[in-house]
Amino acid sequence: MIRRIVYTEDEIARRVEAMGEEISEVFDPEDDLLVLGLLKGSFIFLADLVRHIRVPLQVDFLVASSYGSAEVSSGDVRLLYDPGASLEGRAVIVVEDIVDSGTTLARVIPMLEERGPRSLDVCALLHKRLTTSAPEPRWVGFDAPPEFLVGYGLDYGEHFRHLPYIASL
Ligand code: IMP
Ligand code: MG
Repeated sequence: MIRRIVYTEDEIARRVEAMGEEISEVFDPEDDLLVLGLLKGSFIFLADLVRHIRVPLQVDFLVASSYGSAEVSSGDVRLLYDPGASLEGRAVIVVEDIVDSGTTLARVIPMLEERGPRSLDVCALLHKRLTTSAPEPRWVGFDAPPEFLVGYGLDYGEHFRHLPYIASL
C-alpha cells in the first residue's frame, strides 16, 4: 500500500523545529500571535510546530471544505467550522498541511483578510509547487514531489494520519 517513505520522522522533526525557530525570530509578544490550523490535516504539524515557537501565542482551528465534484478546479471552498476567533489587529499564521492546487488557500486567505489582522501569513509543511496563483506561504517545510502523500496528519480516505513519517501511496 505504501510505496516509499518520503520524509522520515527525524527529517520532519528537524525541519519543524527550524520552522518554529524562524517564526520565533519574527514575532514579539505585542503581536498577539494566533496560530490558526486548517483541519484536519494540520493537526500533528501544528502540535509539533507551536512547541518550537518561543513567543506567546494562541491556537485555534478552521475547517474548510471543497464542494462541487463537477467543478473540482473552480474550487468552491467553505468554512464548515469557524470559531470566529478575533483576528482584528493580530498577527495570524494559517497552518496548512500541504498546498496542492492552492484552491483552499486562495479562498480562505481573502476571507480571513476581511477580519482585519495586523498580518496574515501561511505556514505550510509541504508544497507541491503545482500552482503560482495561490497565496505564497511565508514558510514551507518541504517542496514535495507530485505524488499522493500520507502520514503525519495527511490522509487517504481518513486513513494513515497517525503515521509518524510521510509516505507516498
Ligand atoms: P488544495 O486546495 O488543492 O491546495 O489542497 C489542499 C488540501 O488537499 C490539503 O490541505 C490536503 O488536505 C489535501 N491534499 C492535497 N494533496 C494531498 C496529498 O498528497 N495527500 C493528502 N492530502 C492532500
Ligand atoms: Mg487539508
